[in-house]
Amino acid sequence: MKHALRFSLAIAAIGSIFTSCNNATTTATTGKDSSTKAGITKVPWGTADNKEVSLFTLTNDKGVQVKISTYGGAVTSWVSPDKNGKPSNIVLGFDSLSGYLAKPPYFGALVGRYGNRIAKGKFSIDTAHYTLATNNGTNHLHGGNKGFDKQVWDAAVSSDNTPTLLLSYVSKDGEEGYPGNLKVNVRYTLTNDDELKIEYSAATDKATPINLTNHSYFNLSGDPTTTILNHKLMIDADNYTPVDTTLIPTGEIKAVKGSAFDFTTAKKIGRDIGQVAGNPGGYDHNWVLNKKDTSLSKVAVLSDSISGRTLEVYTTQPGLQFYTGNFLDGTIKTSAGQPINKNAALCMETQHFPDSPNQPKFPTTILKPGQQYHSLTVYKLSVSK
Ligand code: GLA
Repeated sequence: MKHALRFSLAIAAIGSIFTSCNNATTTATTGKDSSTKAGITKVPWGTADNKEVSLFTLTNDKGVQVKISTYGGAVTSWVSPDKNGKPSNIVLGFDSLSGYLAKPPYFGALVGRYGNRIAKGKFSIDTAHYTLATNNGTNHLHGGNKGFDKQVWDAAVSSDNTPTLLLSYVSKDGEEGYPGNLKVNVRYTLTNDDELKIEYSAATDKATPINLTNHSYFNLSGDPTTTILNHKLMIDADNYTPVDTTLIPTGEIKAVKGSAFDFTTAKKIGRDIGQVAGNPGGYDHNWVLNKKDTSLSKVAVLSDSISGRTLEVYTTQPGLQFYTGNFLDGTIKTSAGQPINKNAALCMETQHFPDSPNQPKFPTTILKPGQQYHSLTVYKLSVSK
């Protein structure tokens, strides 16, 4: 939330290189004429809230493709080759909009206005008290009943060589109980180094909590019928935020050392998961990243030896919600009809800490008028034999 002027200028600059796209035609492309040419294309993808939804395909010069829907700004697929050159999709998503309208648990979506939970849906800023929608038991989760994941975002594409999609959404004063008109821009970029960059910026006209993230569910094997329990994970965090039975942080910042939460050295996710109590059990916690400032730092490394894929996570954010898909129970099916079971995929949601508006010891998440919100997260994929 610092550097207000710098990021105002950055937003202005972003705006100037983007072309608004309201029609349903192919947009900026570079390279040769084939379905995998580098660039960005757009197809109509149905309607929601009487608005046209589009599906964009970002292709880099290796032919790696990421698809993003303007409904929820969701990453619907990320197709890349495994160690044998066989391409497959490493995120949970659907082939059609209907899958998203059925309200899956935030598959690939942009989450806001406040990612994760706010206890009892209540918070205060100075002398003003606010009540948000409570959509997760007694708590507020991921922006409420109709968070940013269920909104149709406006889209524009960049005219430079790296496929780039700019999504914008204006969240009105009072939406889901939040104060202030909040203008949000999210810039997705797919680089030729197989990095998916997600850059968030926002400004408000009243003080408001804000915590934007992306809720992609990864399974590096490309096969959602296998679990992620044999993936290895490193999280560069010596501490995490323990939670109560409703997944609200107790306020304690607790050392991971000697516990199932210790991922400071890469280990199999399934190794200690059985020790993580709760119903349904499994990891669904915020790690307090060791990074000390808001610079972009590598905070997690996920790998799968069978596919040979590795995913590195870089972020400017102070926290990481590592969630092992505990609530997936087979009810939701893939577009191919396969049930999506518990632990079919995992999320690494870069974020501020849950319930920060009620936790004075956590870094602030209040954005004030005149300030500019900014964060950047990079998921970098690689493959080795
Ligand atoms: C986040 C939360 C989880 C769950 C999922 C969506 O990761 O921390 O508890 O709500 O989103 O199902």
